[in-house]
Amino acid sequence: MLYALVAVAFWAMLPAYIPNNAAVLAGGGAPIDGGRRVDGRRLLGDGKTWRGTAVGTLAGFLLAQGLNVVAPAVSAQTGISVPTFPVAAAFGLAFGAMLGDISASFLKRRTGRQRGAAFPVVDQLDFVVGALACAALLDFGWFVGTFTLPVVGVVIVLTPILHVVTNAAAYVVGLKEEPY
Ligand code: CTP
Ligand code: MG
Repeated sequence: MLYALVAVAFWAMLPAYIPNNAAVLAGGGAPIDGGRRVDGRRLLGDGKTWRGTAVGTLAGFLLAQGLNVVAPAVSAQTGISVPTFPVAAAFGLAFGAMLGDISASFLKRRTGRQRGAAFPVVDQLDFVVGALACAALLDFGWFVGTFTLPVVGVVIVLTPILHVVTNAAAYVVGLKEEPY
């Protein structure tokens, strides 16, 4: 059932979806790279801060704990068996999402893109790759049981759509400086 598959994929990815948005709200303060440059270009840039990364990770982790609380009721009500998040998996998804986004900024700077420049496809999927890789690394059994091939397929299609819509909305209400 496609509907159930989409619901499970969305639920399983929520702890990875929230960190970037929380980081936007919490951003500011000291940049992770401390202003360091490589070949004249910033290592990461002012858009990757300690505070944004910490708050983003915490937000994703805490959301997973909240989902764990309501999961049994949601599963019973809907008949769709939504996943719960062991501590390592919750942390892996949240921190991995931030790490993926940070890695993308590293790539952006190396390819001459200024802070805030668009990097299509990478912008939309960097945090997915980071989140899935970290979750797999920290709790492989949970990962293969939750992110089956069909679920991963839905995630790869669904995430860019959600990313474009939420970022455009954040831009319209003035939370983000660019609409991507
Ligand atoms: N942010 C942060 N720390 C992070 C990620 C994001 O503080 N690890 C905050 C920053 O204030 C950043 C904003 O969220 O400007 C938007 O994030 P993003 O679009 O990822 O950063 P950009 O400023 O666009 O920089 P980059 O070009 O490096 O992606
Ligand atoms: Mg950006």
